[in-house]
Amino acid sequence: MPDLFSPLTIRAQSFANRAWVSPMCMYSAEGGVVTDWHLVHLGALAAGGAGLVMTEATGVTPEGRISPACPGIWSDEQAQAWSRVVSFVRGQDAVAGIQLAHAGRKASTAAPWDGGGYVAPADGGWQTVGPSDIAFGTLPAPRPMSADDIGETVTAFATAARRSLDVGFDVIELHAAHGYLLHQFLSPLSNLREDEYGGSLDNRMRLPIEVAVAVREVWPADRPLFMRISTTDWMSGGWDVSQSIELARRLHDVGVDLIDASSGGLHHEQRIPDRVEYQTDIAAELRREAGLLVGAVGRITDPHQADALIRDGKADAVFLARQMLRDPHWPQRAAHELGADVRWPRQYLRAASWRS
Ligand SMILES: Cc1cc2nc3c(=O)[nH]c(=O)nc-3n(C[C@H](O)[C@H](O)[C@H](O)COP(=O)(O)O)c2cc1C
Repeated sequence: MPDLFSPLTIRAQSFANRAWVSPMCMYSAEGGVVTDWHLVHLGALAAGGAGLVMTEATGVTPEGRISPACPGIWSDEQAQAWSRVVSFVRGQDAVAGIQLAHAGRKASTAAPWDGGGYVAPADGGWQTVGPSDIAFGTLPAPRPMSADDIGETVTAFATAARRSLDVGFDVIELHAAHGYLLHQFLSPLSNLREDEYGGSLDNRMRLPIEVAVAVREVWPADRPLFMRISTTDWMSGGWDVSQSIELARRLHDVGVDLIDASSGGLHHEQRIPDRVEYQTDIAAELRREAGLLVGAVGRITDPHQADALIRDGKADAVFLARQMLRDPHWPQRAAHELGADVRWPRQYLRAASWRS
């Protein structure tokens, strides 16, 4: 059976191990352009031995950013700034992934340390868009998207994918989780459209599938394509695991290789169970039922826990977020604890024997 430190190959891309960096917003870009912070932060995680370093949610349009301080990849200047990060990450033999995103009705918010509330246009924010005129929590209601808006959004994802390719990213992850735009179309709680993008499950899945198809057309056949979904809204009458299984099958058919199985974020009244396995058990179910590769995420902190998820066939890889911030060298510490081998930067090799 594979374990946490066994290699994985998806299409032509090999990953040295299955301990991966989950996307994490840093609210530290300037005009959508990544800064020294991103190089140091993602660079440290690559030096720490992770098999894949995934960027934070990166806007495919200006109004698709979660906050004015989130990065984008809708301009050449932004793409150019990413290339420095990509080349450092790849120089560490880590795989470089980018999460492409549109925040929809949850866009134009402040950084968490500034309260996370709505940023009005007068303060550098913007009018948000969404499938329907339904607000998230206390944020303003979005402007419902027209058919043209939807078509332009599909094109924006494809253009961002082409730029990601030019910059040298190895993997694209499409963000369809956490109540952002693609998830807003999936969930009957945020999508009340009466056209071909709302109503039936087929219609609600249409936009995420169209985005996957458009991205797959420009993203080379030898490179992996992931989608992060929220497997459930944790709300009755919302998006749920059985719909996620159907979506995963359909995405697999159009060339999505791996589902990054997250949950929640769509409704402010969600009730998330307080169990360590709250999300990883759903990842296992999705992997069993949908027959494609699955990444597990959420409350993974311990090397033995992460290793067991792979060995027991519950996931093909694990994404770690907060634990990687606590310990950017977690993969190296985990490998030591599990008696496995992992990459060390040559500059650090004198520490790799773990002897004083
Ligand atoms: C600081 C921070 C920023 C995050 N930003 C993103 C993001 O940009 N995209 C995303 O899909 N998830 C984001 N997440 C969610 C994480 O990727 C992850 O799914 C979540 O934190 C659960 O994993 P954990 O228990 O290992 O932290 C963020 C989490 C944190 C802590």
